[in-house]
Amino acid sequence: MGTVTMFASGKDGVGKSTVSLYTAAALASKGQEVLLVELDSGMRSIDVMSGLYSNLVFDLGDVLEGRCDRSQAIMKSPINPHLSILSAPFNQGTLSADRFMSLCQVLSTEYDHVLLDTAAVTGAIITAASASMRAVVVSTPDPICVRSSRVVADTIYDLSLKDIRLVLNRVVPARIKRKIVPNLDYCIDAIGARLLGVVPESDDIALACSGNEKLSKQCVSYQVFQRIASRMNGEDAPLLIQ
Ligand SMILES: Nc1ncnc2c1ncn2[C@@H]1O[C@H](COP(=O)(O)OP(=O)(O)OP(=O)(O)O)[C@@H](O)[C@H]1O
Ligand SMILES: [Mg+2]
Repeated sequence: MGTVTMFASGKDGVGKSTVSLYTAAALASKGQEVLLVELDSGMRSIDVMSGLYSNLVFDLGDVLEGRCDRSQAIMKSPINPHLSILSAPFNQGTLSADRFMSLCQVLSTEYDHVLLDTAAVTGAIITAASASMRAVVVSTPDPICVRSSRVVADTIYDLSLKDIRLVLNRVVPARIKRKIVPNLDYCIDAIGARLLGVVPESDDIALACSGNEKLSKQCVSYQVFQRIASRMNGEDAPLLIQ
């Protein structure tokens, strides 16, 4: 039985898709079978980030509405043969939470990890929480983002998902040093979740997200996601903080 993990945030654009994609790729690089499902109707991005865009025919909406079999919508990612992607619908609409929960139950028997990349809207968070065993809140150190992350962590906790971890993304140490943003301890305490990883602001990540390049094995960010993946697997990997 695999693990279903939702990635959530209180604000848009903080890096949920980025963090979930490169965590999924890092897990896949360890030989585990990984499926990344994007739950963001009408605003999908994983297809571009993972280089799948031009090959897509079916999506999550088609699977839930019975227009295709899940095997027709789940695509192997060019990033890693052990990583598969189920893309969000291109058009906005409401996905059936019950059908999604049933689908995730089946998927968790077929993959070691199912990662759910959600949207910063209550509906997607509730739907994902109902299907997940644990949650990762993605936040930047920006104080407004930190506050919204606390709200979403509390929301997830109230939905009976008690295993909540935190990834701090787009961290620029010089900004912490100059007190432009609060330090990491403040962020962790304010959000109230155990730290899973600290991802730097990185040109390598921005380049990889454009869908033209894989995240280079030589870059620090690659190693950061390797450590996050190890910690997701319950291993005692020290944090890599620049
Ligand atoms: N650590 C990082 N370093 C550099 N760029 C980053 C980093 N994290 C995210 N980005 C950039 O920020 C943009 C937004 O990230 P992303 O799409 O992952 O956010 P999101 O939370 O999934 O957004 P949405 O709420 O719209 O789904 C991406 O284009 C990506 O290139
Ligand atoms: Mg996203």
